[in-house]
Amino acid sequence: MMNHAAITGWGSYSPTRILSNHDLEELVDTSDAWIRTRTGIGERRVAAPDETTSSMGVIAARRALERAELLPREIDLVICASTTPDHLLPATACLIQQQLGCTQAGAFDLNAACSGFIYGLAVASQFIQGGAARRVLLVSSETLTRFVNWQDRSTCVLFGDGAGAVVLEATPHCEGVLSVALGSRGDIERMLVIEAGGSALPASADTVARKAHYMKMRGNEVFKMAVRNMAQTAKEALAKANLTLPELTAVIPHQANLRILTATQEALDLPAEKMFINVDRHGNTGAASIALAMGEFLDSRPVQVGDHFLLVAFGGGLTWGACVLRWADIAAIVRRRAQKLSA
Ligand code: ACO
Repeated sequence: MMNHAAITGWGSYSPTRILSNHDLEELVDTSDAWIRTRTGIGERRVAAPDETTSSMGVIAARRALERAELLPREIDLVICASTTPDHLLPATACLIQQQLGCTQAGAFDLNAACSGFIYGLAVASQFIQGGAARRVLLVSSETLTRFVNWQDRSTCVLFGDGAGAVVLEATPHCEGVLSVALGSRGDIERMLVIEAGGSALPASADTVARKAHYMKMRGNEVFKMAVRNMAQTAKEALAKANLTLPELTAVIPHQANLRILTATQEALDLPAEKMFINVDRHGNTGAASIALAMGEFLDSRPVQVGDHFLLVAFGGGLTWGACVLRWADIAAIVRRRAQKLSA
């Protein structure tokens, strides 16, 4: 019988430092009113100097493991989805694996920018469905504020830092990840790019002087592509899961911009109250955004076994994707796990 992959633990972490729109007014020529009306963002979190993508990911992961009632050594695979790794080498997933003590696990990074959590769910569920792993720890973590040019008002107001993590576990029942839809279109037009630091443009005094290690974006074009593709990929994932919009408990989207979310919600003909939004408090946290939002959603209200969720994202690459989840009977999975251990 084929396994499904169910979320049995989740955790998130946001740095304590809050950067408000008013704080940004001191840095660049902007205003709280402009940022709120154009993006819906009121504040974002900024990592402390000693925090990194891996250190934030470790905190979120520990919370997810604790909720799943699992020890680090019971994890078979650690995946880290991020655009802002600690280093080009080693992979951030390996640093997380080491810091947690996931001694039995493989580890690798995955870069699908803001769609990273959806791509991570796709990969993790395939490992579990194929039988190559029983338990996967998926960590999405970003320190985007280290890669924005604090003199560029068109980008620096948008991004924030944070991390989210989930444990995915094999279940014989039809629950957990029901479907995934993924898409991409190589961004040769450089709508959203960090130009330097890779093999195409290695770091040099010149790249540093040109601020080529910071994110550049043509926001308007990204905006239009995001709305079109998020609505389309959401419909695809729903169709694959044989579900309709009214059957969803909530849609948890990548939190890029309130106007993108509202336009997507309207394109889907979805009641506003079904769309979970926290962009006002976090800004765009890249790959971490859906995991952070999902953590907040799950911590703030009761969720029933059998509830359906749609996660949908769009990001650099360009990449997009959606995933439909059926909330699993976590208590039953934990019980079966304990029975196997005692057998
Ligand atoms: N404060 C004040 N004025 C600003 C600011 C700012 N922070 N930023 C830009 N402006 C000005 C521009 O200079 C421009 O001025 P001009 O008309 O004198 O030239 C004016 O505001 C309008 O600029 P636009 O870029 O056309 O503004 P727009 O309405 O498109 O909003 C925004 C810009 C918010 C970036 C929007 O395009 C957007 O949200 N795009 C999507 C961005 C996004 O979400 N990217 C991430 C998705 S992928 C991922 O998550 C990595």
